[in-house]
Amino acid sequence: MTNNQPLIQVRNLDLYFGAFHALKNVSVDFHAGELVGLVGDNGAGKTTLIRVLCGIHTPTSGEVFFDGRKIVKFHPKLAIDQGIETIQQSVGLCDNLSIARNFYLGREPVKRFLGVPFLDFSRMRDMSTKVIRQFGLRDNVSADDEVERLSGGERQSVKIGRAVEFKNRVVIMDEPTNHLSVREREHVNELAVQLKEQGLLVIYITHDIFQVHKLADRIVIMENGEKVADAMTDSMSAEELEEVIRQGGRVIEKQEAV
Ligand SMILES: Nc1ncnc2c1ncn2[C@@H]1O[C@H](COP(=O)(O)OP(=O)(O)O)[C@@H](O)[C@H]1O
Ligand SMILES: [Mg+2]
Repeated sequence: MTNNQPLIQVRNLDLYFGAFHALKNVSVDFHAGELVGLVGDNGAGKTTLIRVLCGIHTPTSGEVFFDGRKIVKFHPKLAIDQGIETIQQSVGLCDNLSIARNFYLGREPVKRFLGVPFLDFSRMRDMSTKVIRQFGLRDNVSADDEVERLSGGERQSVKIGRAVEFKNRVVIMDEPTNHLSVREREHVNELAVQLKEQGLLVIYITHDIFQVHKLADRIVIMENGEKVADAMTDSMSAEELEEVIRQGGRVIEKQEAV
């Protein structure tokens, strides 16, 4: 294995929902330590593509390699075991549970007393307190508070902290800043950059090229189920890429011909 080997390789992926052709011959590589903006209008196929990577959808044809190994069975549990986590705006936390419980949801640490297993609440509290401070939650928020109390940005921070704590290798953020205030959006964007700097692969999905151009190393644009552009951010401005999206990818040939 060389350092140049992509962490995720997608090869000639096609996916049909019944007769509807949702992903059309998509090939794309993603590397560790890279922040990739996956951009395109609503309905372009961005979420569908990452749902394949998360094991929610099985492609009709084509291949996906993770760390050089071909994925033969698409299943969410297998994706999580390999360290792929998706952060979406609306799902992923239980409002009526504490931050500490949410932090460990499905992965609760257990301690034994006289051979009987108990949830290790003190460990959950200590770890999640450390993380919520590190990830910038308000000082008056404690790990015992219910998630209900948190702002949208703080919820995203808990999910991002969880991804880091559990040593995920891939964090996919699907429209992570929808409904957030400007300040919170900046905070989530800073966290995305921090994750990448720690060596994770971050795939940041948005319909707004201006939102991600300033963060990303590379921009992949999708349109009507196809990948229509794949460019390093320092090679094309946000305005040029926005024009690509507006033209449905058609201006990319002109760009390449220059
Ligand atoms: N489970 C599904 N069944 C049928 N069609 C779907 C399903 N999921 C997505 N689609 C369709 O696939 C297209 C791409 O959707 P999606 O990947 O969610 O787009 P994006 O995330 O880029 O906005 C849309 O036309 C959507 O209606
Ligand atoms: Mg989507």
